Amino acid sequence: MELFDVYPLYPIEPVKALGSKLWDKEGNEYLDLYGGHAVISVGHSHPTYVKRIADQLQRIGFYSNAVENSLQKELAHQLGEVSGYIDYNLFLCSTGAEANENALKLASFHTGKKKIIAVENAFHGRTSGAVAVTHNPKIIAPFNSSHEVQFIPMNDLMELTLAFDDEVAAFIIEGIQGVAGLYTPSPEFLQLAQSLCKGHGAVFIMDEVQSGAGRTGKFFAHQHTSVKPDIITLAKGMGNGFPVASVLISPEIESWHGMLGTTFGGNHLACAAALAVLEIIDEEDLMSNAKVMGDYASKRLQSFSEVIQVRGQGLMIGAEFEFPVADLRKKLLFEHKIFTGSAANKNTLRLLPSLTVTKEELDQFFDALKVELNK
Ligand SMILES: Cc1ncc(COP(=O)(O)O)c(C=O)c1O
Repeated sequence: MELFDVYPLYPIEPVKALGSKLWDKEGNEYLDLYGGHAVISVGHSHPTYVKRIADQLQRIGFYSNAVENSLQKELAHQLGEVSGYIDYNLFLCSTGAEANENALKLASFHTGKKKIIAVENAFHGRTSGAVAVTHNPKIIAPFNSSHEVQFIPMNDLMELTLAFDDEVAAFIIEGIQGVAGLYTPSPEFLQLAQSLCKGHGAVFIMDEVQSGAGRTGKFFAHQHTSVKPDIITLAKGMGNGFPVASVLISPEIESWHGMLGTTFGGNHLACAAALAVLEIIDEEDLMSNAKVMGDYASKRLQSFSEVIQVRGQGLMIGAEFEFPVADLRKKLLFEHKIFTGSAANKNTLRLLPSLTVTKEELDQFFDALKVELNK
């Protein structure tokens, strides 16, 4: 059997990793400033993380959601504490798309409605509802296209107001648009969305799949504003590579047995991974490091005349250049051994390093960038 060929691959195979470093089969060392799409939050193979998962596996790795699992309760408690959403309820699943799919389903169950308002250039995942609220016709199959979705431009208060009526089940938005190229919703836009949701009996869903887990310097990106969404989704950095995702649900939304479900969600290993991540974020004060290193990286990027704009927050950074960055990214990878990310905006280079990244590691990137831009 061959692999179904959907991913264009770099001819590099990492076989070992630690912190922000990767090594390939030939022993070449790479600096990872992308974390495999924002997944690596506490650093590759962090010893606390490895030990917690290994210890858990020695005891029990998995049983289904038909039995009690106190690790889930511990995780709900810790996640409530670190995020400040103490009174919210937690549904555990395995991927970002699954978290958003369940968030949309919950909103529809709760309101009895099905129209969704989403934002242009949004990316919410590839399952049926999640891809329907994703603004990319290329990845929406006919099967996914019958959902009732209206897209409005980011930060357009008038279009947002006009889109709302009493038929709306939910408004969904990313904390910061990542795949699009690092576009942040304005506090006014979020405030208006929140009040329109309240006024029209709709659910406010905040997708923090990429921007959550401390990446922006606060646990969730929307916590740089004063809004309080009804549902928040989280994945990627939550498990530092172990597939684990969350739906945080306002106490106003009631549950009933059978309403949602999953075989793998919240299994023992997933909980151990997520608990280790929260413990490391706390012990190493990684949200502060995300802010300090993020500010440093943004400032240094702004000093390059080829950079038109630096967007994002903390360690979720997009630098828009005067030109498409594909060649620059290839040179950084193959000549300087540094992983960076792309975006739908072809001129934008994305940096999504581990929250443990150091000034020295960032300087290594800036030295390489200087060399390439001066060629
Ligand atoms: C904001 C956002 N939501 C959802 C997803 C989908 O997550 P997953 O690939 O884990 O399904 C992504 C993935 O990039 C994302 O960036």
